[in-house]
Amino acid sequence: MIEDLKHIIYNTVIEANRKMTPGEVEKTVAGAADVDTKVVRLAIKDLVSLGELSYTYLYGTSFLEKSFNRPVRVSKRIVIKPPEKLYQPQPGEVVVNIVGGAAFGNGAHATTCLALRALDFVLDDNSCTERKARLKGLDVGTGTGILAIALARLGVEKVVATDIDPCAVSEATHNVRLNNLDGRITVSDIPLEEAATRFSVIVANLACPTLRRLAPLFSARMEEDGVMVLSGFKESAAKDLGKIYTEQGLKLIRQEADREWICLVLRKP
Ligand SMILES: C[S@@+](CC[C@H](N)C(=O)[O-])C[C@H]1O[C@@H](n2cnc3c(N)ncnc32)[C@H](O)[C@@H]1O
Repeated sequence: MIEDLKHIIYNTVIEANRKMTPGEVEKTVAGAADVDTKVVRLAIKDLVSLGELSYTYLYGTSFLEKSFNRPVRVSKRIVIKPPEKLYQPQPGEVVVNIVGGAAFGNGAHATTCLALRALDFVLDDNSCTERKARLKGLDVGTGTGILAIALARLGVEKVVATDIDPCAVSEATHNVRLNNLDGRITVSDIPLEEAATRFSVIVANLACPTLRRLAPLFSARMEEDGVMVLSGFKESAAKDLGKIYTEQGLKLIRQEADREWICLVLRKP
C-alpha cells in the first residue's frame, strides 16, 4: 500500500506540467488515492530521505521535484550527477557532473532532458569515433553548461558554449573545469552574430521568440550535413518553429515530446 502510494507521488511529481509545492502534491495524491493527506506527507518524507525526490526553493516558494542529488540516467547513455556522488559508469555510458546553482540546467527540466536525449540520438554511432573527433559543437544558452558537457562526453572534440547571462557563463566555466573539459569546451558570452565559425552540431534550449529570431543565423552557422537540436518550446509552437527552420533549408529528422514540451532535430542537407 505505502509502496503504491510512493509510486503515485513520484509519478505525480515527475509528470506534472509545472513545479508543484509539497501541499499541492499532498492534496492531489490524497484525492487520487483516497487517503488522508497526513499519510501522503509521511510517504513524501520517505521519498525525500530515499533521495528519490528533493525540496527545491525558488522565489520564496518550496517545491517538490525529482532529485538530482544522486546519479540520474536521463537518456540511453547519459547519466547526470553531482560531482561528490560516486558512480561507476557501465560500458558506453557517459557521465556529466553538474553543480547546481542559479543558472538553468541541473537536468531536471523536461526541455534539458529532451535536448540531452536528442544529442544522445544524434551522436549515437560508436563506429565513427574519428568523424566525431572532427565535429565542432555549439551550445547556445548553455546555463550550467550541461548540454555542452554532454556534447563533449558524447565525442564532439571541440565545443563552444555561449550565454548572455554572466552568472551562467561563470557556472558553466566551473562545471566544464570540474568535468576536466577545459581544453575542449570554450565558454563565452560572445554573441553568435560575432562568431564566424561554422558548426557540425548546434544545440539550443531557448525561449521560442529567440529560436525564431536566430533561425537564419543558426542555419548560416551550420556545416553541410550539420545537425540542429532545438528545445525550449511547447507543442503549440512546434509547427510554426519547424516551418521557420525548414524554410531555412533544414530537414526535420526527429521530434520528441515530454508532456507539453517538444524537441526538434533538423539536418542541413
Ligand atoms: C532554458 S536555459 C537552458 C540552459 C541549459 N542549456 C539547459 O538546457 O538546461 C536558457 C539559457 O539561455 C540563455 N539565453 C537567453 N537568450 C540567449 C541568447 N540570445 N544567446 C545566448 N544565451 C541566451 C539564458 O541566459 C539561459 O541561461
